Amino acid sequence: MYLEIYKDYETLSLHVADEIIALVKRKPSAVLCLAAGDTPRLTYALLARKAHDERMDFSQCTFIGLDEWVGIPPTNEGSCHFFLKHHLFEPLHILSDQIHLFDSLSENIQQECIKMDAVIRGRVGGIDLMVVGVGLNGHIGFNEPGVKMDSYSHVIQLDATTQAVGQKYFHQPTKIEFGITLGLQHLMNSRKVILMASGTKKAEVIRKAMEDSIGAEMPASIIRNHPLGMVLLDEDAASLMKRN
Ligand code: F6R
Repeated sequence: MYLEIYKDYETLSLHVADEIIALVKRKPSAVLCLAAGDTPRLTYALLARKAHDERMDFSQCTFIGLDEWVGIPPTNEGSCHFFLKHHLFEPLHILSDQIHLFDSLSENIQQECIKMDAVIRGRVGGIDLMVVGVGLNGHIGFNEPGVKMDSYSHVIQLDATTQAVGQKYFHQPTKIEFGITLGLQHLMNSRKVILMASGTKKAEVIRKAMEDSIGAEMPASIIRNHPLGMVLLDEDAASLMKRN
């Protein structure tokens, strides 16, 4: 695992955007799995700006969805789908046949998991880069504490922290009891993973994920087992780690 601490959120976001750009320049057919949420918001804005300025072509890339709230439609501003569409797919001119997201409205939600696993394993030949955030409870995607470490796509009951914190994405109180998510085994199988965190509110969970033992109670800790796992933080998120 590789750890880098940047002075602030802007610098961190710039470096993550540069990582994505470097990959796509090196491998135009890259398979990307990019999280939704507040953390990568600026990364995607910078990515979109640079992609435009440098006339980059993302038309051969594939995008894999990391997770979704079960039962929340893509038109809802709090859905991951909505976020990715507005912050990534539209600015980068990504076409629908390049995108594989969970259909969280599906009547057969288990089938969605099987479908996603098959797409990743077979059709697109594995994920080249995952960019993930971390929840206040240590989740990655919706891999909540206690999750099976070798899981692939699954539906999971969201814990109380995730249900409460998740309200920030919605204009009005919304029932978000279950999530559908890639599993931690997808993360381990991904050729490269960037976990990014910013702000003092993430400092305690980062300290635990980086310094306590690796295990299911702190899903983010698994990145320490990934040979090409990168943990990119700003000073605030790193502020409770021992080196300080
Ligand atoms: C979102 C996702 C979540 C978030 C995490 C941090 O697709 O997978 O695991 O990355 O909850 O959220 P923010 O970045 O809003 O603090």
